[in-house]
Amino acid sequence: MQKNLKELLSDAKGAMKVANSLEALKEVERKYLGKNGALTELLKTLKDLSLEEKREMGTLMNEVKVAIGEALGQRQRELERSEIDKALQSEWIDLTAPGAHFPIGHIHPLSQTQEEVERIFQQMGFTVIDGPEVESEFYNFEGLNIPAHHPARDMQDTFFLNKSPDAEEGRLVLRTQTSPNQVRAMRKYGAPLRIIVPGRVFRNEATDASHEHTFDQVEGLLIDENISIANLKAVMADFLGRLFKREMRVRFRPGYFPFVEPGMELDMSCLFCNEKGCRVCKHSGWIEFMGAGMVHPNVLKAGHVDSKKYQGWAFGFGLTRLAMMRYGINDIRHFQSGDLRFNMQF
Ligand code: PHE
Repeated sequence: MQKNLKELLSDAKGAMKVANSLEALKEVERKYLGKNGALTELLKTLKDLSLEEKREMGTLMNEVKVAIGEALGQRQRELERSEIDKALQSEWIDLTAPGAHFPIGHIHPLSQTQEEVERIFQQMGFTVIDGPEVESEFYNFEGLNIPAHHPARDMQDTFFLNKSPDAEEGRLVLRTQTSPNQVRAMRKYGAPLRIIVPGRVFRNEATDASHEHTFDQVEGLLIDENISIANLKAVMADFLGRLFKREMRVRFRPGYFPFVEPGMELDMSCLFCNEKGCRVCKHSGWIEFMGAGMVHPNVLKAGHVDSKKYQGWAFGFGLTRLAMMRYGINDIRHFQSGDLRFNMQF
């Protein structure tokens, strides 16, 4: 029986050597140590032996069992190592090779500019609010001191919708400006007030490089006691300076908008020539930037704000135009083109 055991051990070791995979090794394990394995079968014969023999053989069998187990473990480690070696040889790894490029999304230049504008005004204590793109005639015109037959309506070629859900608010229009939110915000939040309203506006324009039926504006409104245009001048010089990261100056010219009195246009120093005069600013040193003015008392009234106690200013500039200047984009139609070759440049 001892001889049998020795043979069994050397058979098992031989079988392990030829087992060339982990799977084959498992098979060897089953064959010798499994439920009906060779060693297990031998163990079953123990019961027919005398007590003395049982003790002796039992110890021996146990030693063989441990020896087989150890040999299996060793062979298993060998096989695992060689599988890793094989993988390393077949898979080429170059740690210095450039990484794979996964295309990820990109923020549209208009949104980038809008985020920057919002950030700067928020730092100055303005709240960013939103308003509807489908607007009523009341908020888009009447509330802004532009009655039905006022010629100022012709300044903005309007898209009308075939719906007038509310007799008092008139027909629905696609808002031609962000200004309707002056009255909306005054009614909703009252005075004092410090807001900007970025958003899309729509005009029935013949499109060309500088005109588009859809573009973006930013409305600004500040209502409080003792407010003057001097505050607007300071806020805008500061805003433009932070946006363009250089010192900026602003100047006013008279301008007409029915909802402000006095009304004005604000120019900023030309970015391209430092006010020396160049082709971009038509040799004036200044670039027209936005409409502005002191909020008309009729507009305060429409917003239910006491015009004896409060006054304020409003402004509106073209966000799309600002993005064009910021990035040197020469055709407004690129913005709505959905062409990734355009977007990816900024
Ligand atoms: N809403 C005006 C426009 O679209 C701009 C403006 C806003 C002017 C606020 C004055 C005050 O042209």
